Amino acid sequence: MIKILFVCLGNICRSPMADAVFEQHVTNANLDFDIKIDSAGTGSWHLGEKPDSRAILMAAKRGYDLSKLRARQVCAQDFIEFDYILVMDESNYEDLKSLSPVKYQSKLNYFMSFAPHFKQLNIPDPYLDDRFEQVLNMVEAASQGLLDHLCNKA
Ligand code: 4NP
Repeated sequence: MIKILFVCLGNICRSPMADAVFEQHVTNANLDFDIKIDSAGTGSWHLGEKPDSRAILMAAKRGYDLSKLRARQVCAQDFIEFDYILVMDESNYEDLKSLSPVKYQSKLNYFMSFAPHFKQLNIPDPYLDDRFEQVLNMVEAASQGLLDHLCNKA
């Protein structure tokens, strides 16, 4: 079992989209029993909330279901439990690096490192400027790259 945690700031836009999109890729590849997926935020403003309605709507248009997800904050146990902790941008990366015990820092990586053709490590925060479609395009590409990476390792 490989465990993957997606992390953004609020856990209501980018990381829930990553969670649901990657979950769908895993289901399509018949790997549900081998890969566990979760998402969390570095911030605490939205704890217990559903994803942003714009994220739910945009994802639903492409067949992804975000409606059952609820926001939570990253906790110390996450660094132990998850094999890959994949962040959406540089500020998530810096925040987690300062929270993580040194021995677990190698688990941290940018989600977009699995879509190198984008030449962009940061997934833009869509909360204020509505770039949900751009985020979904990036998340779909990185999901396919991550799945390929995991399958090549197996
Ligand atoms: P996310 O987007 O990190 O992709 O979930 C945000 C959601 C909420 C806020 C910032 C970013 N906020 O400041 O409340």
